[in-house]
Amino acid sequence: MQHIEQYQEVFLNYLKSFTLNKEPKNLYSPINYILQLGGKRLRPILTLMTAEAFGGEAEDAMDAALSIEVFHNFSLVHDDIMDAAPLRRGKTTVHEKWNLNTGILSGDAMLIMAYQLFENYEPEIFQALAKLFSKTALEVCEGQQYDIDFETRDDVTIAEYLKMIEYKTAVLVGAAMKMGAIVAKSSHEDQNSIYEFGRLLGIAFQLQDDYLDAFGNPETFGKQVGGDIIENKKTYLYLKTIELGADDTLNLKTLMSNSDVNNEEKVEKVKHLFTNSGAAEATQDAVKTYTNKAFKVLDNLNITEDKKQSLRIFGQQLMNRRV
Ligand code: IPE
Ligand code: IPE
Ligand code: MG
Ligand code: MG
Ligand code: MG
Repeated sequence: MQHIEQYQEVFLNYLKSFTLNKEPKNLYSPINYILQLGGKRLRPILTLMTAEAFGGEAEDAMDAALSIEVFHNFSLVHDDIMDAAPLRRGKTTVHEKWNLNTGILSGDAMLIMAYQLFENYEPEIFQALAKLFSKTALEVCEGQQYDIDFETRDDVTIAEYLKMIEYKTAVLVGAAMKMGAIVAKSSHEDQNSIYEFGRLLGIAFQLQDDYLDAFGNPETFGKQVGGDIIENKKTYLYLKTIELGADDTLNLKTLMSNSDVNNEEKVEKVKHLFTNSGAAEATQDAVKTYTNKAFKVLDNLNITEDKKQSLRIFGQQLMNRRV
């Protein structure tokens, strides 16, 4: 098995060859823009790693990996519209650089391209990949809708939140890995176990994303720090503050239901409540808990210890990430 950086390098080369020099420019330029903007490429790396972990070839998993990354980037373009986000990977978001309609249509085209990439597989593999993809993509939509619905609710529970992030984020990480296992023709049992590993890692990943959205370094994070607070997102930080900080509950609920306040002041005040209540620390603990839950799944997997170790290293890096 190769190192994480090597998987990233081969994937980036493949992605480069996917650049679309087609007309109309206003459909394809935003697609090239978002796909070449950078990003960690963690989902396609996981697809390639998983294919090799189960004895397959990374090369055979390349189109599945690309499909996952194209779908992920589609979801980001539409997510940035929904979240009114100005920045993505340190650059202007597609709907701000072009316009709303361009963001919608280029996103739609990417979703179709993601599906189209499965055509490069033989019928049996094609069917398995397409089936998993459709189920996952619909769940992502469900998660995204909950995320938006929660903005205007003040009674969201932690259980509801966990379901929401499972759908909007974690199932795609699970699917990315399961696709690698499908291409490698591993057993159904192993396919399901690796999906479970990815799903739990994905929950940890979104918890960390919530944490960084408030406490990340604006110089390096690449997104607008405090964006979730401005949009009244019901994140783990918010829900834990309510749970832990009885005296501050009303204060927080008032701050986070309001849209006509000075955003800078709102972000500062809310971050203060997140820290003082202990919710910031509790969020970091939850990241660790879910990462460790994921590692437990590896114990029963039919792959060699060195391959498990590579997956653990990947999980550790995600847990400690700052971008
Ligand atoms: C951002 O995903 C969306 C979430 C699910 C949090 P990433 O943090 O993987 O984004 P890139 O691809 O590295 O930019
Ligand atoms: C994104 O969640 C999930 C999807 C894109 C499906 P976020 O809204 O938290 O992602 P970021 O923070 O904008 O990357
Ligand atoms: Mg967003
Ligand atoms: Mg969002
Ligand atoms: Mg986020």
